[in-house]
Amino acid sequence: MGQWLIDAITPCAAELGVELVPVALADLNLPFLDEEEHPSSGIYRQEHTRRWSSIVDTADGFIVVTPEYNYGMPATLKNALDYLGREWAWKPIGFVSYGNTSAGTRSVQHAKQVVTTLRLVPLGATVAIRIGDALDDGRLRPDAARDAASLGLLNELVRVSHALRPMRERAGAGTVAGPVPGSYARRLTPDDAPEVTVLQRCCWVEEAVVNDTLAIPALHESLEQVREWLADQHTTGVWLDGRLLGMVRTRRAGTDWHVGRLAVVPDLRGHGLGRWLLRTAEAAADPGIRRIVLFTGSNSQRNINLYHSEGYELVPSTSTDGTALLTKDAEPTPKHRHSRLGENARS
Ligand SMILES: Cc1cc2nc3c(=O)[nH]c(=O)nc-3n(C[C@H](O)[C@H](O)[C@H](O)COP(=O)(O)O)c2cc1C
Repeated sequence: MGQWLIDAITPCAAELGVELVPVALADLNLPFLDEEEHPSSGIYRQEHTRRWSSIVDTADGFIVVTPEYNYGMPATLKNALDYLGREWAWKPIGFVSYGNTSAGTRSVQHAKQVVTTLRLVPLGATVAIRIGDALDDGRLRPDAARDAASLGLLNELVRVSHALRPMRERAGAGTVAGPVPGSYARRLTPDDAPEVTVLQRCCWVEEAVVNDTLAIPALHESLEQVREWLADQHTTGVWLDGRLLGMVRTRRAGTDWHVGRLAVVPDLRGHGLGRWLLRTAEAAADPGIRRIVLFTGSNSQRNINLYHSEGYELVPSTSTDGTALLTKDAEPTPKHRHSRLGENARS
């Protein structure tokens, strides 16, 4: 059954950019749960637990292929689920079941009510195989409807996995608590380009109005251009329930630390997000940086006020392109610097 599933969904997985990692519970050699601490502690003394933890931790979703034993899931599956805790949380789980009269569906019903305790999210799509109807000489007979059902399962798994990503990230590595309750911050990646493009167009429309110009790169950049700079430049984003609330971009130029693309969604202005992002950007300055540098529109009084209140001075400029340059001296002893977000984040 497992091999049929892999063959059936591999081409679709490749199109979706999904890596499939087949795992046979029998190969894991997990004894009946033999850890002393509760799995929610994440304290694992046994090598087999650490190995299993690492496999589950790196996955973004699961498809379980399971038979039915006495109207329930096999003890091996229950045991494998019981071994771990947070590694399962906020990941979708789909089932391919097999059995006699019920085609394994009672096993799935049993598993579903167990997995929700672990914050696994069971899918609605299922594939259920009645052994008597599906096998010829012990081999699965080809069945286009079953193949199609497996693709439906994979598609739903991927969609739900994307939708649950904010829930997984919130507690995950590479994130810190954000300034708004429930929010978190992390380094942005090229995959965040759609949200970044929307945020910057929305924010820089106001800049265009107050400065009476459309010559602002943030207003015109394509999704592809945004993807490119997100790959190269360190950008921090604040998220809440899957929504990008704000961002800031930093880069080094000699002994200057350039802070740019500071943006906050219009409905959450005045909640300290901009100030928090600015301070985060400053705190990430490399050693040896002498000056923090940023630009804004000459008429962007709201921005200029924020920067003044954070210690920046306007540099008298001969520039005629409508931008104002503001600078402040970098902290001489970067003792309390935060580590840069995303440096140890999962990709
Ligand atoms: C202990 C045991 C209990 C079973 N209970 C059920 C059952 O409740 N319902 C069912 O449809 N099949 C039941 N079966 C049949 C299995 O689902 C079927 O034999 C299946 O092929 C076993 O898969 P496996 O060889 O991968 O363990 C049971 C089999 C065993 C060994």
